[in-house]
Amino acid sequence: MSEMMKKIEQELVSYLPEKDEYIKNLVDSMEYSLTAGGKRIRPMLVLEFARLCGGSEEAAMPFACALEMIHTYSLIHDDLPCMDNDDLRRGKPTNHKVFGEGCALLAGSGLLTLAFETASSEKAVMLNGNEKCLSAVKVLSQIAGAQGMLGGQIIDLESEGKKVGVDHLKVMDSKKTGALIIGAAKLGCISAGATEQQMKAAVSYAENIGLVFQIVDDVLDITSSTEKLGKPVGSDSENEKSTYAALLGVDECMRISKELTEKAAASLDMFEGDTTALRDFAYFLLNREN
Ligand code: IPE
Ligand code: IPE
Ligand code: MG
Ligand code: MG
Ligand code: MG
Repeated sequence: MSEMMKKIEQELVSYLPEKDEYIKNLVDSMEYSLTAGGKRIRPMLVLEFARLCGGSEEAAMPFACALEMIHTYSLIHDDLPCMDNDDLRRGKPTNHKVFGEGCALLAGSGLLTLAFETASSEKAVMLNGNEKCLSAVKVLSQIAGAQGMLGGQIIDLESEGKKVGVDHLKVMDSKKTGALIIGAAKLGCISAGATEQQMKAAVSYAENIGLVFQIVDDVLDITSSTEKLGKPVGSDSENEKSTYAALLGVDECMRISKELTEKAAASLDMFEGDTTALRDFAYFLLNREN
């Protein structure tokens, strides 16, 4: 895993634009968030599904990087004063605290657009061909857009201070967090030229771990510490966020998450290759502390 992380980190920065004197601040700000660390779970999932479906890490890497750029953009915007108004991310001051709100807004947009440039880059086309790159760009657009992550973020904002039901939370979480994780599974499958059944099983795994990921994130906002998380705890209650944890309590959240993780692991049964890493990964996400 750490070998894979290193490769992801190296390739991520290789797509950043040249820093000429006019755009230096913007590119510095994009680089700041992109290199601030993070668990890199989405790109790792892309690579792992590509491997499982008979593809190569090298070919899937541009898609993995594109997805991590979109994720990083979503975090920069999520932390802005007009959104969650948080000061710490990945153990460092948030982008807008260092570069100012205007630059942070542009850095987020810059990473979003860079994702599409990356997934359609010469390198991506050389390794995957035009057709797979087109599919990847389509998936990236769908999962990031109004029906995907952005859709979840607006539900999140509009649910602040309200009492909403579990069904509502499920829709919100499966969009704001689930969408990018489902995207990871799809991108790996696309690069590898997976079969329809493989794609379906991969998406089912991702739907379940995606939901777990956000439920655990909400639990950690209550139970963890700022040092462990690298982001402020208590942010959700401060913003009167509607979360599974606020509605059902920590114990019930962990019970549901365990069930969903078992379901995710069961989706892997149809694959012929070695699924140990993906099974372990699902349990790692369930039991994570940051
Ligand atoms: C945080 O995602 C945002 C959510 C979707 C809950 P991660 O916990 O994957 O953040 P990093 O990339 O490791 O910083
Ligand atoms: C964020 O959810 C999901 C995104 C699309 C960024 P949160 O607002 O709970 O993420 P954190 O806790 O700030 O990382
Ligand atoms: Mg948020
Ligand atoms: Mg937030
Ligand atoms: Mg959170």
